Amino acid sequence: ARHLLGIEQLHPLEITTLLDLADTYADHNTRGLAHREVLAGLTQINMFFENSTRTQASFELAGKRLGADVMNMGMQASSIKKGETLIDTALTLNAMRPDLLVVRHPQSGAVDLLAQKVNCAVLNAGDGRHEHPTQALLDALTIRRAKGRLHRLNIAICGDIAHSRVARSNIMLLGKMENRIRLIGPPTLMPAGITDFGVEVYDDMVKGLQDVDVVMMLRLQKERMDGGFIPSEREYFHRYGLDAAKLAHAKPDAIVMHPGPMNRGVEIDGTIADDINRSVIQKQVEMGVAVRMAAMDLLARNLRAARQDNNVMV
Ligand code: CP
Repeated sequence: ARHLLGIEQLHPLEITTLLDLADTYADHNTRGLAHREVLAGLTQINMFFENSTRTQASFELAGKRLGADVMNMGMQASSIKKGETLIDTALTLNAMRPDLLVVRHPQSGAVDLLAQKVNCAVLNAGDGRHEHPTQALLDALTIRRAKGRLHRLNIAICGDIAHSRVARSNIMLLGKMENRIRLIGPPTLMPAGITDFGVEVYDDMVKGLQDVDVVMMLRLQKERMDGGFIPSEREYFHRYGLDAAKLAHAKPDAIVMHPGPMNRGVEIDGTIADDINRSVIQKQVEMGVAVRMAAMDLLARNLRAARQDNNVMV
């Protein structure tokens, strides 16, 4: 493929290939082995139109570990503030001949649109409530390393499903790999028609968490609630926040995940988040660098091959 826009476009074999490569990068990162030849001579531009800590930092680190020239566009200080459109900004940067463009945008579909206008590889770093493919891939690698497999697992995704691109990408990825997915949350935060994706829906944590292998918690995404109903945090934690009592209904070796940023005491009890015997939240962050290295490595191979076919120098 030329771009990484979403999990929707990926075949299970492509997912496995990417995770296998990311697994190797994860091992090499632990041993301090760099691979600066992989993206040597290539330019990576990170354009984040929405706040980010993990995704932005790990894409930057991943590019640097693979030897790319990495540029972070400070979108707050860019000419977007003077009324320039996303597409005009993208065309301007495209004219500077980047090879990899990493984009986060608050509007669903904006990254797909941008990818049609440029001639470099585009990686979606999260668009609105649509997709966050590298998050789902890093979650998958974390699960595979913790459980030894990525199929036939009972996986609960809990909380604000309706506004979550992380949930959407995970539902697609974990479904493609033949896992059983349960969505748990208030009916007001459950998207219409979600059962078409072959998931089970619960509004009761105790019932939904029964014997699951993986518990994935999500943040209440108030920035995407568009003035709609926002539950009280106290009430929400009481009914849907993960604490020891609710987690006791999952399998004894169930792992706890959260994509971050997390709100302690709202969707998750801080003690559970910090419990190194159950929580793999920091592992998820670690796998994020490896997965982004693998994604950019594979796209760069395709880019180089396409340019060679067209006799364009890299
Ligand atoms: N999980 C995630 O996308 O975190 P950031 O918003 O900090 O990048």
